[in-house]
Amino acid sequence: MSSSENKSNTEPHIDQYAVIGNPIEHSKSPDIHLLFADQTGEQLNYKKMLVEEGAFSQTVTTFFANGGKGLNITVPFKNDACAFVDELTEYAKNASAVNTIYQDDNGKFIGANTDGIGLLRDLKKSLRLQIINKKILIIGAGGATQGIVEPLLHEQPSELVIANRTASKAKAIAEHFNNFGNVKACALHEIPKQPFDLVLHATSAGLQGNNVELPTEIIGPNTCCYDLLYSDQDTPFMQWAKNNHARNVVDGFGMLLEQAAEAFYIWRGQRPDTGMAHHYFRPDSKSKPHL
Ligand code: ATR
Repeated sequence: MSSSENKSNTEPHIDQYAVIGNPIEHSKSPDIHLLFADQTGEQLNYKKMLVEEGAFSQTVTTFFANGGKGLNITVPFKNDACAFVDELTEYAKNASAVNTIYQDDNGKFIGANTDGIGLLRDLKKSLRLQIINKKILIIGAGGATQGIVEPLLHEQPSELVIANRTASKAKAIAEHFNNFGNVKACALHEIPKQPFDLVLHATSAGLQGNNVELPTEIIGPNTCCYDLLYSDQDTPFMQWAKNNHARNVVDGFGMLLEQAAEAFYIWRGQRPDTGMAHHYFRPDSKSKPHL
């Protein structure tokens, strides 16, 4: 046997992971997961996959049939992923959205949703914020909101208000989750003019550089404002919150890291160091690295 044959026969197999979305070019998930792999000494590859609408099931089936180990799912396929898998975790079932797929020992596809856990971890680490007995306002009632309401309610806020341009969508989400805690819904113009402890911005308006018009009374001296979008510059919502003197204003980059870390844990059984990762990706960030 030649030395090159010998090398290829003994080369360790590398586990394959990917993120699926459309668009996908902007995704930071490969960089994040490859850093986590470095941190934990895990051997894996992680790539981006652009998938056309209608091609989701075929792509996922082929990926796993070829030995793929796990997928992250992003816009617009989180609902398709929910319909595709054989079993859903509780959070994924209640959110009707899946952002992480893996196979169990029997080859069943399991769909999880780590977005809400990611948000909660980042709120505690970046903002040192405990949700219990706090007043929370969520702006927006799309897929992002669906993924975070249940984990937030488990932390027992005194009230959770969902406000949306289309009030009926906010009402539908509030009704869906009202067994889990005190959750109300309203239109944007009906938002109570009182300070909230936490305002979470979860619309897609910022993607087009637009801001949602909000009453300034929702910000008091102790209000934290959190944009679920992430960007190297302040988003329109963050600019608005800073102009109105919110106590803390952050974007969703910490949530992105934390939801990725939870997916990594599901797949590999190892917890990456998200504080170090935060510092690595944003060395100039004024916020301290996570504990
Ligand atoms: P995602 O999965 O990112 O949440 P989505 O499900 O399409 O995306 O939801 C987008 C959210 O942003 C919705 O709450 C939408 O409001 P409507 O339900 O009324 O459509 C909100 N949104 C988008 N652009 C907006 C704008 N310019 N002003 C206010 N809300 C906006």
